Amino acid sequence: MRHLLSPLDFSVEETQKLLDLACDIEKNRSKYAHVCDGMKLATLFFEPSTRTRLSFESAMLSLGGSVLGFSSADSSSAAKGESVADTIRMISCYSDICAIRHPKEGSAFVAASKSLIPVINAGDGGHQHPTQTLTDLLTIYSLKGELGNMTVGLCGDLKFGRTVHSLIHALVRYPGIKFVLISPPELRVPDYIREDVLDAHGIEYREMTNLEDAMEELDILYMTRIQRERFFNEEEYLRMKDYYVLDKEKMKLAKEDMYVLHPLPRVNEISVEVDDDPRAKYFRQAQCGVYVRMALIMTLLGLEVE
Ligand code: NCD
Repeated sequence: MRHLLSPLDFSVEETQKLLDLACDIEKNRSKYAHVCDGMKLATLFFEPSTRTRLSFESAMLSLGGSVLGFSSADSSSAAKGESVADTIRMISCYSDICAIRHPKEGSAFVAASKSLIPVINAGDGGHQHPTQTLTDLLTIYSLKGELGNMTVGLCGDLKFGRTVHSLIHALVRYPGIKFVLISPPELRVPDYIREDVLDAHGIEYREMTNLEDAMEELDILYMTRIQRERFFNEEEYLRMKDYYVLDKEKMKLAKEDMYVLHPLPRVNEISVEVDDDPRAKYFRQAQCGVYVRMALIMTLLGLEVE
């Protein structure tokens, strides 16, 4: 049985196979409409979510399966004190595969260790978010035709942003990747990622605080939200929240084929005036999330279509 807990659970070759499957799904939706007939996906969301949960549900429904689950800890037995380990044992009897999001780092790993069905980590605290990474990879691949040989700017909350941590882990495996890490000094990429991932792979990267200064060299700009729920005090958050605002003026500094991604939800970090720029691809990215999750569900359940 296979789980997806970290972006490294799939090798580069397996990731490519999954992205190719997602591309085929996008082109031939009807071919996949009954792959999961009679199967169930459980979505266990102990933390808020719109895109991740609904794109998982949409993915399973598009494959012919059905979905069950909860969308907040308050509406589950966690509110009565049940452990993740007990919840997952029980869910294993009710469904064929599950996606779990939880505020505690490592929770998906605990769930997988007790589960009888494949577990997908849909975000564990400030740690990892591997299905967002697959979504990001599919988006970049569909725009650029490759995943290597580019300069990727990561901007915003690089300390608490789990999508950033997972994306760095995944991208360092491709040749010719360079990073520009743009954040307030307080929200830099954690040391363990800088040392164990970037330095360990000999990746070229620069850390800076000013977004304008980075714009012209970027091939991809990955904007992120300041992660309010992970701050220890509200004052700190309020001081940081408008640190970066990508607007039309800054977009003028970028290349013609520089694309803007954002895992969403956005708060103030991308001005709505940027939405009309053809290089703004964050809504396309949200759509890619459904195809990649369809491909993932099929892969983890070992299902194929002739
Ligand atoms: C991200 C997350 O939950 O980490 N959202 C998402 O899944 N698309 C990003 C965020 O909340 O800022």
